[in-house]
Amino acid sequence: MKRVITYGTFDLFHLGHLRIIQRAKALGSFLVVAVSTDEFNQTKAKKCVYPYHERAAIVAAIRDVDLVIPEENWEQKVRDIQQHKIDILVMGDDWEGRFDYLKDYCKVIYLPRTPQISSTIIKSDIKSNNY
Ligand code: CTP
Repeated sequence: MKRVITYGTFDLFHLGHLRIIQRAKALGSFLVVAVSTDEFNQTKAKKCVYPYHERAAIVAAIRDVDLVIPEENWEQKVRDIQQHKIDILVMGDDWEGRFDYLKDYCKVIYLPRTPQISSTIIKSDIKSNNY
């Protein structure tokens, strides 16, 4: 059976996050989720409501998730694929094409995003009392 990996920030865990995890798991039998660390997010000027250990704990509690690892930099993917014997890397289609270079190491699949939801939208809706 196939081993699958996906990457993300997973702040303010929402239905789009759940759906991509469920669809990733459906492609195999073991799912690794790499959750971006606060330090990595800082390098992308991305600020989270929940710190890494809380986001990682929430993702780890999802039934379809078998293992959570930290995503600490852009370069670790080849190492992750080899270390966890990954067959398929799954990303949302907002990343379409960005990880095609990994096709030398495993299958790369971009899944359509769940429409009209994101951590950014939730944050801005709350800020503007638009909920
Ligand atoms: N994702 C998805 N559908 C959504 C939102 C996210 O399929 N509506 C997927 C992303 O494509 C990614 C994973 O969930 O593969 C983690 O995404 P993340 O960046 O944490 O989610 P966003 O809600 O888009 O976060 P932000 O608004 O901070 O960019």
